[in-house]
Amino acid sequence: MKKLIIGAYGQIGSELRVALEKRHGLHSVMAADIRKPESEDSDFVLLDATEKDSVFGLLESEEVDEVYLLAALLSAKAEQMPQQAWRINMQVLFNLLEAGKEGLFKKLFWPSSIAVFGPHTPKQHTPQYTVMDPDTVYGISKLAGERWMEYYFEKYGLDVRSLRYPGILSWKTAPGGGTTDYAVEMFHYALRHEPYVCYVAPGERLPMMYIDDAVEGTLQLMSAPAEKLRIRSSYNLSGIDFTPEELARAIRRYIPGFRVEYRPDFRQQIAATWPDSIDDRFAREDWGWRPRFDLDKMVREMLAGLKQTQYPEAELSL
Ligand SMILES: NC(=O)c1ccc[n+]([C@@H]2O[C@H](COP(=O)([O-])OP(=O)(O)OC[C@H]3O[C@@H](n4cnc5c(N)ncnc54)[C@H](O)[C@@H]3O)[C@@H](O)[C@H]2O)c1
Repeated sequence: MKKLIIGAYGQIGSELRVALEKRHGLHSVMAADIRKPESEDSDFVLLDATEKDSVFGLLESEEVDEVYLLAALLSAKAEQMPQQAWRINMQVLFNLLEAGKEGLFKKLFWPSSIAVFGPHTPKQHTPQYTVMDPDTVYGISKLAGERWMEYYFEKYGLDVRSLRYPGILSWKTAPGGGTTDYAVEMFHYALRHEPYVCYVAPGERLPMMYIDDAVEGTLQLMSAPAEKLRIRSSYNLSGIDFTPEELARAIRRYIPGFRVEYRPDFRQQIAATWPDSIDDRFAREDWGWRPRFDLDKMVREMLAGLKQTQYPEAELSL
């Protein structure tokens, strides 16, 4: 039985795939994406997940037990292309929910986001159950998706699992057009010893997470016993939270001359409607969630990884 990742060559899929292979064995994972990977390998399938027949065809021809649906248009990109974002973020989920209902696989993982919250949501330690009035294309599609996930669980018994990821930081693969991408960009500029112009305001606090924690949380949720899971819409998940100013200061510990200017744009307006921090008590209680990365540990990992792979000349003392 295979694990199928749809949207496998994005920021999260690239690392989730490796983690799944480590856990379940080489060639246990089939990677599908609309674009080809840089280096082709045998377990890759070119797939446009908006084409229902192609998705069903693939699931009918392969023995798949778990699907990880990661194909999406992220927050900043989705604002530029609302219709397309709805089609990718919603239609693809529907196709998979229907395939699951027909018994073509056993378990579905589909990530939601902190973008499901909105301007009237309490900002500090945002609870699992609270006001949800997202006013972005992306947030609206994620909230609708959460409701459909729970519906297919309740009505059809489909084993659906989901996390509300915060902004994800990683160095192996670049982020794909979200509002929190500024945090990753800062590291690249710092290592090139160039000033960075940040599109989010200096004091805008947002929930974030290092990729290793996001991948580990996903694996933990997917292997948790079904009877432990009280939430089938999507679990709040918390890692760290910081402002651009705090991140720049944390980077300066290792690259002292790093400078940041602030010119907020439309992404600041999106960020302003999102929580500052997240209360993830259900994830902790139900399946033992604990993040491993604090701000400093994340900063060190990002700098070390990027220096090793992309900026060997950069001066920094870790
Ligand atoms: N990265 C974050 O900070 C973050 C935060 C919250 C939630 N999420 C969610 O996690 C999931 C994965 O995010 P990511 O950061 O890896 O995104 P990404 O943009 O980096 O990757 C998405 C992948 O999906 C592929 N794709 C797009 N349209 C497709 C289609 N029609 N058919 C097949 N593949 C298609 C893209 O080629 C890309 O490789 C998304 O659902 C996203 O909303 C991400």
